[in-house]
Amino acid sequence: MFNQLNLKASDFGNDFLWGVVTAAAQNEGAAKIGGRGPSIWDEFARKVGKIKSGHQPTVACDFYHRYKDDLLLVKALGFRVFRFSISWSRILPEGTGKVNPEGILFYHQVIDECLQLGLIPFVTLYHWDLPLALEKQGGWTSTHMLKWFTRYVQVCVKEFGDKVKHWIVLNEPMGFTSLGYMIGKHAPGKIGLSNFLPAVHNAVMAQAEGGRIIRTHVSGAVIGTSFSCSEIIPFTQSEKDRAAAKRIDILLNRLFIEPALGLGYPSDDFLLMDKLYLHNKAWKYKERMHFDFDFIGLQNYFPVVVKYNAMIPIIQATDVSAKRRKQPVTDMGWEINPNSFYNIIEQFAAYKGVKKIIISESGAYFKDKLVAGVINDQQRIDYYQQFLQALLKAQKNKLPVAGYFAWTLMDNFEWSEGYHAKFGLVHVDFTTQLRTVKASGHWFRQFLAQ
Ligand code: NOJ
Repeated sequence: MFNQLNLKASDFGNDFLWGVVTAAAQNEGAAKIGGRGPSIWDEFARKVGKIKSGHQPTVACDFYHRYKDDLLLVKALGFRVFRFSISWSRILPEGTGKVNPEGILFYHQVIDECLQLGLIPFVTLYHWDLPLALEKQGGWTSTHMLKWFTRYVQVCVKEFGDKVKHWIVLNEPMGFTSLGYMIGKHAPGKIGLSNFLPAVHNAVMAQAEGGRIIRTHVSGAVIGTSFSCSEIIPFTQSEKDRAAAKRIDILLNRLFIEPALGLGYPSDDFLLMDKLYLHNKAWKYKERMHFDFDFIGLQNYFPVVVKYNAMIPIIQATDVSAKRRKQPVTDMGWEINPNSFYNIIEQFAAYKGVKKIIISESGAYFKDKLVAGVINDQQRIDYYQQFLQALLKAQKNKLPVAGYFAWTLMDNFEWSEGYHAKFGLVHVDFTTQLRTVKASGHWFRQFLAQ
């Protein structure tokens, strides 16, 4: 493990991008305000038992009304980049059709405020909040998805493309297709391969198409898309465990990037891939899965240790939990492993087509204690220091890392965990909306100032 070294942002060079991240569904609130249409998360959260304690995303951090103060905080902490997402149903309440002028105005205001403060607005087009109207017509499983997404992206880039040059097309496609369409833990709560496989293919097509639309309409655009990723480690060196690890690597790491790079879907011997091809057979324009991204965003929270398990259909693998392996974990139960963070960066950097890597999210949930107005979240500081140390090593070893964005600016709506899981550098009191910078936020300020 890494020592607590005296890290400085300047060690990474002047061009390195330091950012902090939020997402519309997790931060904005104002679910029924400003002409916004409902998203799949509004509907999903209303269903009993889906979100811890029945928490709702309706108000969240009220970023919709407080963006000016929140952006001042981003500035005060010393970040250069503010990554945020656009809520599709705020722009197009029905997902397609009529544009909502109030939604357009809101994002113009956020972007203008960023620019005035000297922050780079870094826009994610899709961070999991599909308009409910589209889900009612099949959502990501529908063959119309590409058409709907095209329209949405065109509206956004034509409106904001003069001011916004940095774009991330999709946030973690593996995240929303698997959690939302395979195991039903996230919105829209669908399950099974017959939902997952078409959702995967439509997301693969959308990420490339989104890139092309931005390239066409935005001069000087810097275009990326973000992937969740995890180093996959076989539990033992047995042939069966290693083969199981290879299957999970395809699923968690390779499924979305390889088609984007023009390599097609991974064609290794894996039943799931055969099924994906079967689902795909009738679909056209496979060459359109490829787009020449300027950078890729990587989001790594934990490694996955895998062992063979004949009982699990198709995948035939299960993970061996960090707890069972007696490894240190965050309060999410996710293994803290900066070496594995390094390894996964190395794995993605090895693709020929990857030009630049931005760590587009990185952070941790620990149970914070607010004592006399102070949150001393030393564990989070340690976490960031260890991960930044690994990142510096990656940079020294000439891996093309160009930025690091902390997840997240402030405690927010953590999907099915509700407001329980707190990843913020800033604490939010969800009754009063009072913001309190945590020790980790102060640590970042000092680190970035050096
Ligand atoms: C990845 C997702 O993009 C983000 O929305 C989420 O809150 C974090 N991981 C933490 O789970």
